[in-house]
Amino acid sequence: MKSLASWMVSSRQRVYWIFLVLISTLSLALWYNHVTKLDVTVMANTGLRGYIRITSGKKDQFLDIHCKECALVSSSGQMLKAGKGKEIDKLDCVIRMNNAPTVGYEHDVGSRTTLRVVSHTSVPLLLKNETYYFRQSEGTVYVIWGPERNMRQDGKGQIFNVLLRTAKKYPQVKLYAVTREKIQYCDGLFQNETGKNRMQSGAFLSTGFFTMVLAMDMCDSIQVYGMISNDYCSQANHTAVPYHYYEKGRMDECRMYRVHERARRGGHRFITEKAIYGRWAAHKKMEFKHPSWTEREKVS
Ligand SMILES: *[C@@H]1O[C@H](CO)[C@@H](O)[C@H](O)[C@H]1NC(C)=O
Ligand SMILES: *[C@@H]1O[C@H](CO)[C@@H](O)[C@H](O)[C@H]1NC(C)=O
Ligand SMILES: *[C@@H]1O[C@H](CO)[C@@H](O)[C@H](O)[C@H]1NC(C)=O
Repeated sequence: MKSLASWMVSSRQRVYWIFLVLISTLSLALWYNHVTKLDVTVMANTGLRGYIRITSGKKDQFLDIHCKECALVSSSGQMLKAGKGKEIDKLDCVIRMNNAPTVGYEHDVGSRTTLRVVSHTSVPLLLKNETYYFRQSEGTVYVIWGPERNMRQDGKGQIFNVLLRTAKKYPQVKLYAVTREKIQYCDGLFQNETGKNRMQSGAFLSTGFFTMVLAMDMCDSIQVYGMISNDYCSQANHTAVPYHYYEKGRMDECRMYRVHERARRGGHRFITEKAIYGRWAAHKKMEFKHPSWTEREKVS
């Protein structure tokens, strides 16, 4: 039988051991927490910081995508009868704009869609057919751009709110927003290239402009399909095509471009933007197909 004294010693030892185990468990837990937190920060720092995930889940997830060869498929009527579908589908990534359809146009524009750049004004068009865009095409990445008033994240941005609801309803769909900083950066690009302040000159950047910038961020090389050069419309022999290949045009592409180029307020400077792409193409791995651009058009 143990004496009282020896019982007290072993009891004290027991407390000591329990204490030791507790301490090491606690420090292990703290260390683990620290490491996983570190992991999250490291992960949040990868990706393209100009594009942020729209999600009710983890904050600060940036678009993490990189492609060797991209097809950037324009929505222009130039794509009608282009017959470029197979060529487009063979490239690593296929980038499209807004709700431009592939179904029924596969032969001309291809059938794969890696990513869509979508204007805030086209978000309702996606939602009108949400089963198709967010269920059947759930592998597609959506990058939405829009002005602060529609895309602010404090509950007052109407389009952002709609997108957040969509993200909750389809948590597997990858929805991203172009950040305010990136949009300001694009305004800066426009100003540097044209010498004009984007806002003061009454211009809105087009979805094509944001798409071109994103393509340069994510692709090693870009094949642009269906985009005309800045002087195409002034050539006497140019072909008149609808503004969009999927809309029976009331106005042909060149007329639409001229109207926008001249608009005092709220116009897209499609022709000016094409001249900018031409200058970029002289330094970047960028080819224009259907119609193909001459070397002169690429440095205009
Ligand atoms: C949704 O889009 C798909 C693919 O473009 C099209 O085939 C379908 O008719 C559309 N559905 C509706 C309801 O608009
Ligand atoms: C525009 O040009 C200025 C002056 O050269 C430069 O500091 C700035 O980074 C440029 N902005 C963009 C978006 O390229
Ligand atoms: C128009 O004519 C020019 C010069 O002859 C030629 O290079 C160009 O390919 C023609 N464009 C079209 C759309 O036929």
